[in-house]
Amino acid sequence: MNKINFDFKDKTAIITGGAQGFGFDIAKRFLLSGAKVIIWDIDTKMINNAVEKLNNQNLSSNTIDVSNYQEVENCTMEIVKNSKIDILINNAGITGPTATLWEYDIEKWKKVVDINLLGTFNCCRAIVPNMIKNNYGRIVNVASVAGKDGNANASAYSVGKAGVIGLTKSLGKELADKNIAVNAVTPAGAKTRILDQMTKEHVQRMLSKVPRGRFLEVEEFTSLVCWLSSEENTFSTAAVFDISGGRSTY
Ligand SMILES: NC(=O)c1ccc[n+]([C@@H]2O[C@H](COP(=O)([O-])OP(=O)(O)OC[C@H]3O[C@@H](n4cnc5c(N)ncnc54)[C@H](O)[C@@H]3O)[C@@H](O)[C@H]2O)c1
Repeated sequence: MNKINFDFKDKTAIITGGAQGFGFDIAKRFLLSGAKVIIWDIDTKMINNAVEKLNNQNLSSNTIDVSNYQEVENCTMEIVKNSKIDILINNAGITGPTATLWEYDIEKWKKVVDINLLGTFNCCRAIVPNMIKNNYGRIVNVASVAGKDGNANASAYSVGKAGVIGLTKSLGKELADKNIAVNAVTPAGAKTRILDQMTKEHVQRMLSKVPRGRFLEVEEFTSLVCWLSSEENTFSTAAVFDISGGRSTY
């Protein structure tokens, strides 16, 4: 299928968790569409791989832990010295272990919520003031069907992603009188490295719930994120866009 590229000329995008998986594919398509892209990821080795593969002068990167507010703020301050930030894709995430709530390691539970939910809050908290100053912004928060349905043996992940949906609805309304859109997306399972963090049985159970009967392709996901991040999205905000192959009923 021939893909139409979006017009991201003169736009600067930060993509968290952009070193691989969904984030990497979004970075690739944004660059093809003329954006300046900054990848924020915790994994320096994977960042270096991504930078080498994408080989684009409009790409830069920072090693950063999105769950650490000070790191996020320091990095934001450096960037806004020379640039505006037009697009933020809050995509960094982990699933954590597959375990019942009563057997879940407490520190691991907190870590999952810290990265998925607090990480999204931290990036919005640091970057939104720059968007307000420029009266322009498109924020896409990557949630999950788990945040709508609640997956068994994934309480931390389901809570974190449900929180991302609530945060999106709240922040979207706070910014609705400005040219800033904040939306969430809820993908079903896609074959990225994140699946390695879960048991095979858990992944199979997730897949069995998808009426389309297959995994989501990363490129299909990127298409939705591109439209939500574009200037063409002038009205939708504080909303949740489903991309679960028919799994979610709302
Ligand atoms: N792949 C799926 O099946 C699926 C389904 C629903 C939702 N999601 C969500 O999509 C997003 C992207 O996942 P993916 O499938 O591409 O996974 P992935 O593991 O391929 O990529 C996630 C990236 O986030 C980075 N990251 C992890 N912790 C970080 C931190 N503290 N700070 C900065 N970066 C960090 C990782 O280094 C990695 O590069 C995640 O939020 C995930 O929860 C994925």
